[in-house]
Amino acid sequence: MSSQIEDLIKYFREESKKEKEYAKALEETVRKSNNLMLKALIKAVSTDSLKHSGLYEAMAEMLEKPQLISEKESEDVIKEIEKHIEEEREAVEELKRLLNDERIKSAPAVKFIVEMLLRDELYHHALLKRLHDAVIKPSVFSEEQYWEMVWKDSMWHGTPGG
Ligand SMILES: [Fe+2]
Ligand SMILES: [Fe+2]
Repeated sequence: MSSQIEDLIKYFREESKKEKEYAKALEETVRKSNNLMLKALIKAVSTDSLKHSGLYEAMAEMLEKPQLISEKESEDVIKEIEKHIEEEREAVEELKRLLNDERIKSAPAVKFIVEMLLRDELYHHALLKRLHDAVIKPSVFSEEQYWEMVWKDSMWHGTPGG
């Protein structure tokens, strides 16, 4: 492994650690706060920071073991991903219904969070769908082209069924 790659691995692990510490600091702020909206949203940022910590760690591992990135997936896992895709789709439908509910429309803080959830679930749905395609369809693209597609489609066309 080249020393530049080793540096990058080290960098990712440092970022991973930073995100974890930041998540803890945010938790502390949540603990001190009395405002429910602030508590809920800072808690969400804290959980996201833990998520980011895991993603940095994953990138470090991918650079360490590049041969495992496109490892073949078991039937079991593929079946489970299909179930998760459906669960995400149901969540999206449910949240869209909520956005049309008069009780939600007249509670701006609640509506704000429902919209936040909808964005997340649309993204989850699109991401899982793309990952599913990635593990079942033999790719006709280069790995680089493939992941660029996963990224763009999950970001900009995050609609169930789409
Ligand atoms: Fe972050
Ligand atoms: Fe989700």
